[in-house]
This record gives sequence, C-alpha cells and structure tokens, in this order.
Amino acid sequence: MIQFSTYGKIYEDLNWELVDKKASSVARTIEEKTGAGNDFLGWLDYASKLEEKEIVKIEEAAKVIREKFDTLVVIGIGGSYLGARAAIEAIRGLYPRKDDLEIIFLGNTLSSEYTKQVLDHLEGKRFAINVISKSGTTTEPAVAFRILKEMMLKKFGKEYLKDAIFVTTDRAKGALKTEADATGYKTFVIPDDIGGRFSVMTPVGLLPIAAAGINIREFLQGIKDGQKDYSDKDYHNNLAYKYAAIRYLLHVEKKFPAEMFIAYEPQNAMINEWLKQLFDESEGKEDKALLCASAVFTTDLHSIGQFIQQGSPVLFETIIRAKEPIENIKVPYDEKDLDNLNYLAGKDLNYINEQAFKGTLKAHAINGHTPVNLIEIEKMDAYNLGNLFYFFFRATAFSAYLLEVNPFNQPGVEIYKSNMFELLGKPKKK
Ligand code: PA5
Repeated sequence: MIQFSTYGKIYEDLNWELVDKKASSVARTIEEKTGAGNDFLGWLDYASKLEEKEIVKIEEAAKVIREKFDTLVVIGIGGSYLGARAAIEAIRGLYPRKDDLEIIFLGNTLSSEYTKQVLDHLEGKRFAINVISKSGTTTEPAVAFRILKEMMLKKFGKEYLKDAIFVTTDRAKGALKTEADATGYKTFVIPDDIGGRFSVMTPVGLLPIAAAGINIREFLQGIKDGQKDYSDKDYHNNLAYKYAAIRYLLHVEKKFPAEMFIAYEPQNAMINEWLKQLFDESEGKEDKALLCASAVFTTDLHSIGQFIQQGSPVLFETIIRAKEPIENIKVPYDEKDLDNLNYLAGKDLNYINEQAFKGTLKAHAINGHTPVNLIEIEKMDAYNLGNLFYFFFRATAFSAYLLEVNPFNQPGVEIYKSNMFELLGKPKKK
C-alpha cells in the first residue's frame, strides 16, 4: 500500500464540503458502474479474474522471446505503450545489463529520423516484434509495423515471421486481428472493457514486462492488493480517492491550473509520462481539468527549479518516490580533497539524493508557494509498482467523475487524426 502525505499551509484551509457533497455518489458510480463510460471499468477487477492459463501463455511467450532473440521491438502508442515502458524502465533501469533482453519502443512517433535509427540499430540482430493496438488501425504503430515487418521479411524470410511476431489486439475485430488470423502470429487479447491507458495490467503491459525479465505474478499481486487497498467508498479511508479529492480542491477551489509530477530517479521519468496521459486524456475535456506536467529532480531543479520557487504560483507538485533504492553507491574519499567533498566521503549517493529531496520539499512547500503531495512506496519493484498503478487508476476515475467528465473516452484526439487523414488523402470508408 502506498503512503500519502501533504506539505504546505494551503492544506489546512481546504473547503472539504465541495468534495463531501459529491464523494459518496461518485464512489457509488464507480462501484456500481453507473457513470459515463461505464463499459470501460473492466480494469477494476481484471487482475483477480485473469485466468492462470492466460498468465502461463504470456510467461511462455516471454521465455521464447528471451531465449531466441537479442531484441524485442514493442510497437504501440499512448496507452498501448506507456505503461509497459514506464514499468520496464523503472524496475530494470535505463541501460540493460549484459544478459538482459534489449527492448526498443517504436510506433510511438511518426519521426522518420527515429524510425531509421531503430532500423539501423537492428542491423545484425535477431529481433522479435510485439505489436500492440486495441483498434488495430492507429496510424503510428501501423506504419512502424509495416516498415519493420518488411525489414524482417527481407532479412530472415517468411518462416521467421511466424515465430517472431506477437500481436496484442482486440479479441475479434481490427486490421491486426485479421492479419494475425491469416498468418498464424501468436495473439494476445485486449479486453473490450479496458481502454488503452488502463491496460498495463492486460497483455498490453504484461507481455513486454515479462519479456523484460520482470515477475508479472508479483506485479499482478500488487494490483490485486490494490483492489482491496483502494476500494473503500468513503474517501477518508481510501488514499486514492483522498489524493483525487485534494487535486480536485487545489484545482477547483484554489485555482491551480497545473499539477507537476516529480521523480527523483531518471528511470522513473516514464512513470511521469504515463501519469500525464492517464490524467490528461481522461480529464481534459469540456474545457476542464488540471494540466499535468512533469520533472525529474534534482536534474530539473537546475532549470525549472527557479520558476517553481519564485515564478508564477500556477502549480502544485505530486512527488512519487520509492523509500529504498534498488542500487546504491558510496562517495569515495580523496586524499587531496580539491573539490571539498570529503565531508560526504563514505556516504551513500542515495542518502545525498534523499537530503536533496527533503531540502527541496521544504524550499517549495514551506519556504515557497508550491503545495506538495507526496506518494511513497517501499521500493520500486514489480509488486509495489503494480499497487501504485492501481492506486492511480482509482484516483483517475474518482477525480474525473468529481469533475463530471467521462474518464474513458478521448473525443478530442480524433480531431488531429481526421485533419491529418484529410491532408494525407486517406480514402473515405465506403
Ligand atoms: O488510452 C487510450 O485509449 C489511447 O491512448 C490509446 O491507447 C492509443 O490511442 C492507442 O490506441 P490503439 O491501442 O487502438 O492503437
């Protein structure tokens, strides 16, 4: 279970009545599945319903990928990409160890530069593809899949494709499903009642995470425990709902337009990206919602730190951190001490990072004008990350319903697509 605390004077003076009058009906709306988008609440108990044979199928595919290939290219965008990348980077780090399977992400951009770099990088490697798309028709992953498949075919021949392509898509419909059925690629199902940004607990996240060598049973256990930890209908007893209530009050009552997610580990930066999508795509509609931004400290204290301390008071922070580091390292003693750092000799680097965290928290929330929410887990492992993800799913649903928007659609995203299709001359469906 996560730990949650808040820092800053503003919290003493929140008008809780604004939440009280909505909270119980919002909680009921989620539990009884009666709100807008209610057919996308499958994630509420998906982890505890997932059958053993499905988990085994994912583990077996992951084993094959790890044993037979040098690299796995995960093709997907938005909810079909961010959760897996966030988990893999946060748990495994940014640079895989010698024996780790290399994992590369593609199809999350239309950049020709990036795509060509990936193709060049794959030269001489035996690679597999996990293409992930619920609709099976999203342009970015579809284009990347076509390009990479062509390269695979040229390099290794038709037989290789059947064993090297893993498709995660809808149970019955979409172009990817049709192609997988025709070719015999191994397929994994994205359930109808779980939208992209809530899908990290399904094969969308589970297959790449397992291929990265991470224990998905522990990850699922963290989610299952989250189902108990964050389901109390009374928001006073539910940390996910309490956090959602606070961000609602900071926005609606105290008029903060932005929330900034903060990581203290560079490898957790993708958790911030995942969160930005989760909240902004779920809530940013009908001219409502906080803008979610992100930063990695202490790195960004040397850029936007100045603004946070003394610039326009437009944001509050939500720090997400693990109390225990996975790795630690000591500062060495130096005879000459030219850099005057011997006062830190023998100290853990993580201890120094922790003092930076405490000093910054005080600077921003107590000396400065930036309220801080602090969300902590014991350590960044599969179990705790699963639990953290579920915490945020619950918080998002509660927060969006407090704002009275449908958390599970994204009508605005379609507008860029239709403009782009018009410019590209895409034929209209008959
Ligand atoms: O959260 C969402 O629903 C979106 O971000 C989708 O995941 C994203 O647009 C990709 O869609 P698809 O999986 O259909 O390719």
